[in-house]
Amino acid sequence: MRGIMEQTRAKRTAPETRIILGITGGIAAYKAAELARLLVKQNIGVRAALTEAATRFITPVTMQALTGRPVLLNQWDCAENGMAHISAGRAADAIVIAPATADFIAKLAHGLADDLLSTLCLARDCPLLVAPAMNKQMWENLATQRNLAQLAADGATVLGPCSGAQACGEEGMGRMLEAEELAQEVAEFLQSNKSMNAISPTPTLPRRERELVRHSDERLDGVKILVTAGPTYEAIDAVRGITNRSSGKMGYAVAQAALEMGAEVTLVSGPTALEKPHGTQAVDVISAAEMFEAVKQRVADADIFIGVAAVADYRVAQPSAQKIKKGEGKLTLGLLPNPDILAYVAGLPQPPFCVGFAAESENLRAHAAAKRAAKKVPLLAANLAQQAIGADENELILFDDGGEHLLPRADKLAQARALLRHTAKLYRQGKPR
Ligand code: CTP
Repeated sequence: MRGIMEQTRAKRTAPETRIILGITGGIAAYKAAELARLLVKQNIGVRAALTEAATRFITPVTMQALTGRPVLLNQWDCAENGMAHISAGRAADAIVIAPATADFIAKLAHGLADDLLSTLCLARDCPLLVAPAMNKQMWENLATQRNLAQLAADGATVLGPCSGAQACGEEGMGRMLEAEELAQEVAEFLQSNKSMNAISPTPTLPRRERELVRHSDERLDGVKILVTAGPTYEAIDAVRGITNRSSGKMGYAVAQAALEMGAEVTLVSGPTALEKPHGTQAVDVISAAEMFEAVKQRVADADIFIGVAAVADYRVAQPSAQKIKKGEGKLTLGLLPNPDILAYVAGLPQPPFCVGFAAESENLRAHAAAKRAAKKVPLLAANLAQQAIGADENELILFDDGGEHLLPRADKLAQARALLRHTAKLYRQGKPR
């Protein structure tokens, strides 16, 4: 085995970037093996550090074989002069904890150091990235949320989690991001951190403080964000109505991503089957008129407005309070135009920073650019309606003053996170148009 590892090592060029991959004791530990493989494939040097509990889920031998490096396990091991907790961290460009259990997150938030991995984190001189993985009840527990908020405030980057089927059989928030997505996030982070270090106007600033500066740019702590989501329903009579196929998934993902970045989120939602992201101020509406009222009442307080809802452009002129009885002849419905909520908000004397969406079935670029200009919004995210509506994934093109930015096909939460990072950047620049 040793021989094979040495050959593999010799074939690869020495990686410029090195991370410590901290693995803690949760069932998602098995995904860390794939994550290590994907990072190594991108020529990122990985040194695995496992807690005692992690070794119950995945073996050090597996991680050693995949990374080609000895695994860090025990603070009492004398092989590294008994100083592994200092020396290993010094050589790293980042520490990535994946999976991070609720227990380990609590330890990090309180600065505990009772095993090698927590000691490495406390003694580090490099950025910390944390990918939580836990049961949904543990995730929703206020103690966990408090600990995560503390970690984020201390400058750590929290990656995920996402919602989905859990190992315990339940469904909900707390599932660790997939290895592919984590590998991409980590690689992007390392890349931007490298360029940040290269162009830092304050090279004398210690690494840790530069990390905090970088993250304060990406965070939206205390920023008030108003989001519309889902379809609207325009009544025809007591039991029938006009609506559309919007599921609300994108709007809810936007709300979730904004919460993760520390924003205070109000979610005005049309009828959907989705659970509201924990921590949002939720306002349920049915029709476009109700959505418009809900937005008008709250917009003065918003720093950012994101219109994701598929608002019906028309409502029935004279909806019937009773069920309309079937007749022999033709039935004609009179329709009246609905107010354009996004255009109204963007046209306010002191508008919040406005982000619009465009669902187009053809000529995506031309229609989207025209829509952005007509509604006077600084940032517009466009997608093809037939690919996006109701789907779990989509491809977005962002239009702003700087041109177009493609967000390649990915699940809606990943897209929402990328959109929010872009929004935060433009919002901070403070010159939207
Ligand atoms: N929007 C809105 N109020 C409306 C219609 C649309 O706030 N009455 C917002 C949507 O939330 C989205 C953007 O405007 O952010 C574009 O919506 P879209 O349905 O793509 O376009 P429309 O303006 O309705 O134009 P069309 O249907 O002709 O494409």
